[in-house]
Amino acid sequence: MLLTKTVAEEILELKQERKAVLLAHHYQEPEIQELADAVGDSLELARRAKDFDGDVIAFCGVWFMAETAKVLNPQRIVIVPDKAASCSLVENCPVEPIRAYRRAHPDHVIVSYINTSVEVKAESDILCTSRNAVDVVNSIPPDKTVLFLPDRNLGAYVKDKTGRQNLRIWQGTCIVHATFPARRVTEAKQQYPDALIAAHPECPQAVLAMADFVGSTSEIINWCVSHPAREFIVMTESGVRFSLERLAPGKQFHFVANEQCNCSECPYMKLNTLEKLRDALTHLEPRVEIPEALRVRALLPIERMLALR
Ligand code: 13P
Ligand code: SF4
Repeated sequence: MLLTKTVAEEILELKQERKAVLLAHHYQEPEIQELADAVGDSLELARRAKDFDGDVIAFCGVWFMAETAKVLNPQRIVIVPDKAASCSLVENCPVEPIRAYRRAHPDHVIVSYINTSVEVKAESDILCTSRNAVDVVNSIPPDKTVLFLPDRNLGAYVKDKTGRQNLRIWQGTCIVHATFPARRVTEAKQQYPDALIAAHPECPQAVLAMADFVGSTSEIINWCVSHPAREFIVMTESGVRFSLERLAPGKQFHFVANEQCNCSECPYMKLNTLEKLRDALTHLEPRVEIPEALRVRALLPIERMLALR
């Protein structure tokens, strides 16, 4: 009798055949996270993409994350389960106005969030993620004017933390985090008065002002897991629930719905499925391809960030 393989079994076989590493962001569905070689935030995955043996990176996240992996791994094949897995911040920040800004202000320093296209990265002086944005801006001489792009909430958070007045901020937003209404956080706090609030810095300032902790996706997970409190209101994408409940089984985690979808899910991240991952490993498509001249220009700002710490 022939036994039918599950999709997960097919993926594990293909992973071996292809000598592939499977990297997954915390916002992926649990069944994808379970198969991954590494699950992390955008900084951890960028670092991990530099450091492994194998020929193929199957990037279960969004396209800009896979582009970053490809910039760091020109000799490897980088695939994503769904090519349409973009990001509202990337969509909010086309390259032409950044090129025009660069021409108009050649002495300004452009700090780009990793949530940008490879073309915007190539116009940037240094990259950052939500985890290291404050350190990156602090590394720039204080007399230099900085253009921080594209997330306006992360930019405002960095401005507040660094006290830097010469920081100009692009006005892009994340459709998930920027639409968390402060009033819903207040209601959640009334419902769960003992819960502490952890928030991603892409949330609006009014939400961050209520937070007990602000940090990247992995920092939020680590903080909730190691904190002695038992109950948390988690102001980020609900995919982090998988790691939170695995690492801190006795604790309670509450998520607040945003105004965009009345949920807390990233529609781009959720485009990836096990079936699409299996097909991507089978056909080695959709594949990230970057012209070499563009890749080389995008590499420098990424390496500057990775060298910081
Ligand atoms: P992290 O840097 O926390 O992984 O965030 C990436 C992201 O897209 C947040 O919405
Ligand atoms: Fe982009 Fe927001 Fe989705 Fe993160 S959660 S990938 S910032 S749209």
